[in-house]
Amino acid sequence: MYAPGHEWINHSLRPTHIDDSDFRVQIGGSLCSQPYSASVFNVSAMSFGSLSGNAIESLNAGARKGGFYHDTGEGSISRYHRIHGGDLVWEIGSGYFGCRHDDGSFNEERFAANARDEQVKMIEIKLSQGAKPGHGGILPAAKVTAEIAEAREVPVGQDVVSPAGHSAFSTPLELMAFIGRLRELSGGKPVGFKLAIGHPWEWFAMVKAMRETGQRPDFIVVDGGEGGTGAAPLEFINRLGVPLTEALMLAHNTLVGAGLREEIKIGAAGKITSGFNIARTMALGADWCNAARGFMFSLGCIQALNCHSDKCPSGVATQDPSRSRHLDVADKSERVYNFHHNTLKGLAEMLAAAGLQHPAELGPEHIIRRVSTDEIQSYDKLFTFLKPDELLNGNSQHTVFQNYWEEARSDSFLPPAQLAELRLTKLR
Ligand SMILES: Cc1cc2nc3c(=O)[nH]c(=O)nc-3n(C[C@H](O)[C@H](O)[C@H](O)COP(=O)(O)O)c2cc1C
Repeated sequence: MYAPGHEWINHSLRPTHIDDSDFRVQIGGSLCSQPYSASVFNVSAMSFGSLSGNAIESLNAGARKGGFYHDTGEGSISRYHRIHGGDLVWEIGSGYFGCRHDDGSFNEERFAANARDEQVKMIEIKLSQGAKPGHGGILPAAKVTAEIAEAREVPVGQDVVSPAGHSAFSTPLELMAFIGRLRELSGGKPVGFKLAIGHPWEWFAMVKAMRETGQRPDFIVVDGGEGGTGAAPLEFINRLGVPLTEALMLAHNTLVGAGLREEIKIGAAGKITSGFNIARTMALGADWCNAARGFMFSLGCIQALNCHSDKCPSGVATQDPSRSRHLDVADKSERVYNFHHNTLKGLAEMLAAAGLQHPAELGPEHIIRRVSTDEIQSYDKLFTFLKPDELLNGNSQHTVFQNYWEEARSDSFLPPAQLAELRLTKLR
């Protein structure tokens, strides 16, 4: 408790009592006609391919029983996602699996067919993930089994490439148009994107594009640089992407400052495995949280760190049937359900002790951090929070906004001209 970094939530002398810990958040702004009521804790994106069929089935059955969502990951919707009928968030990565032409480009008809499926509640465009931002991937031919090919709508036994970037858009303005088109094709479901924050001007450029076009995502999932993956180079895992706390602060603050926060919900992922983790993340501005590895643990993952080798000893992250068949769906789906249920029960007890009723009531004043051996600070003193519309009314005092907000341009992800010029001068 006396080590710098230790955090806690303050309790109240007027505790409440919470009977129902099924806390929900409504996702879908005014542009969306089929809003979704999500749990505040859900299964983060992990593909069939990175996880075994039995693992996917267990996650989906647990999600169905507990009333939370299961993100498909970029490998699209497999037969294992459909058996139990748990709510799906369909993730669209740069490989456009489940919605691609043979050449890998985006296919509107295929997208509409899957997106309108009743089980699909929201669409998530994957811009980047914390563990390997800016890193594409190849699923080698040997791993493209008939079942994976079926889910991804690719030929069996051929290399499958996920490019590092998207081909359906190349500027922030085009991204907003793409979001609008997906919403239309899905029949008005919430459409959002997931990203790990990288260059701040690229993020600001997207927010400016939202302001200029009136087109915007219904939600944004912020993935922290601490995010996990089945396989990525070690340096990417450790040294790329803004950590969740700072990334979330930037996303939340920008939307507040740009007058867009009411319309766009924020989800967050990055080592969130407990009621307190959810509380602190929501106190910083998130509307809900997702977990990938936490749910893997509930499936029996022992962190053998063999996800990439197909030799996962617990049958969670492998396509080898001799390993995955030992993962018992009836048992593990119950554990998935219990992990979710008891984590939220723990959160509810904590909220009640703090005198609150719902995690949405949490604010930065509720969470305290020890910053040195003899000093503590609440989040509202520790972090800078922008006022509504602050960015529209003039320069913010916050350094990153002073440096990059004015110069970010909605028609390009390129760095501000001034920066580029500065770099050229140094090279000369
Ligand atoms: C095995 C595994 C597979 C993943 N696959 C995807 C994916 O397909 N798409 C994606 O956006 N993120 C993927 N992720 C990242 C997670 O969805 C999540 O954002 C990240 O791991 C942070 O959450 P955590 O700390 O709870 O694991 C994967 C993570 C793991 C561990």
